[in-house]
Amino acid sequence: MEKIVVKGGSKLSGKIKISAAKNSVLPIIAGSILSGGRCVIENAPMLEDVFVISDVLKSVSAETVIDKENSRILIDTSNISYGEPSSELVRKMRASFLIMGPMIARFGRFKISLPGGCNIGTRPIDLHLKGLTALGAEVSIGHGYVEAVANRLIGNKVYLDFPSVGATENIMMAAVFADGETIIENSAEEPEIEDLAKFLNNMGAIIEGAGTDTIKITGVKSLRGTVHKPICDRIEAGTFMVAGAITRSKVEVVGVNEEHLKPIIAKLTEMGVSLELGEDSIIVDGTKILKPVDIKTMPYPGFPTDMQAQMMSLLCTVKGTSVITETIFENRFMHAQELKRMGANIKIDGRSAVVEGVDMLTGSEVKATDLRAGAALILAGLASEGETVISDIYHIDRGYVDIENKFKGLGADIKRIEA
Ligand code: EPU
Repeated sequence: MEKIVVKGGSKLSGKIKISAAKNSVLPIIAGSILSGGRCVIENAPMLEDVFVISDVLKSVSAETVIDKENSRILIDTSNISYGEPSSELVRKMRASFLIMGPMIARFGRFKISLPGGCNIGTRPIDLHLKGLTALGAEVSIGHGYVEAVANRLIGNKVYLDFPSVGATENIMMAAVFADGETIIENSAEEPEIEDLAKFLNNMGAIIEGAGTDTIKITGVKSLRGTVHKPICDRIEAGTFMVAGAITRSKVEVVGVNEEHLKPIIAKLTEMGVSLELGEDSIIVDGTKILKPVDIKTMPYPGFPTDMQAQMMSLLCTVKGTSVITETIFENRFMHAQELKRMGANIKIDGRSAVVEGVDMLTGSEVKATDLRAGAALILAGLASEGETVISDIYHIDRGYVDIENKFKGLGADIKRIEA
């Protein structure tokens, strides 16, 4: 089992290049099922989750090649057949459920293992299924599986009770071949949804409004393969911006889209972090005295839940009281317990965490409880006195490319060890 060891206290400097967004690439790989041809994903992040979804596609007989050297993924779904994906893979990664929409669109039926909950919440799939039902699919659940059957999907209006990212993506993909028009109301507005729509439209789909709260999909008969370069990872960018702030250093985060980072930029600015915005880069200067802030996670364009843990680490080092409210997932404060091992002063009250800044965090043995929690512990380790040893780092590898080397490049004292 591998661990990451961080020695705190080093100032960071230099430039860091951001990789492509994991949460764009996963639905895009699922969406390639609709092409019935060859797709190439360029500049793809070489991550565990990306390998898992590629294996899910293989398990329904798509051909996928991960070209690590050129950061490309080649997918051929022309010979894909109706089949059940490996339940082991579906349970390993919830995003595997994103093949539901494309598979039912192509084959008129699909059966897949129920994805189940995870460390951050129960994460039901009711909204995904509500959408498929509205398009005319008969959905049944039993023996740990969900099956959807529809001879022909028919376009319809779907109102989402909550703007779920995954449900929006699944319904959007299911509707690509549906008869007539589908309108998704109260859809999620995340940039990754816009990126998925761009990919599908390049293949011949007709999707309008992705990135807003109303998406219109006009059904087409077939799609073709395409080449796509996904957007950059706004959460990886945010994580490195926080790295500059938590080490009270100056770093440049390169390859970013300022528009997608607005809520993070706004919070860091409110705290007193100086941000110099370039064309596709941001210089983060955390050398001034920082102020506590309150944060409430919200669907995009609100503050992202995927940056909540990293901000908690930062606020632990800022004098004064900050309140963080998590409204997206019901159990996404597990990192607080680990940060407390490092001397943080955090009180959890339901969906809120009251963070009282301390003079110094202390290095400790901690556990990554999920992907972003793991990143938050690295950040806390960078700002701590002594050594922090993080276990269960497989969570971190699911979503951050080569994280220790990226931090090393900025001058951090960090290494991966075999424990
Ligand atoms: N929800 C329902 N019913 C549903 C679907 C969702 O109640 O049918 C609830 C969930 O339980 C949750 C909330 O809605 O409380 C938001 O879930 P959403 O469906 O929006 O999330 P997701 O699609 O499962 C994606 C990202 C997550 C990110 C969330 C929120 C991917 C592959 N995953 O998950 O990313 O936190 O949106 O922005 O895109 C991460 O990268 O660390 C990560 C967890």
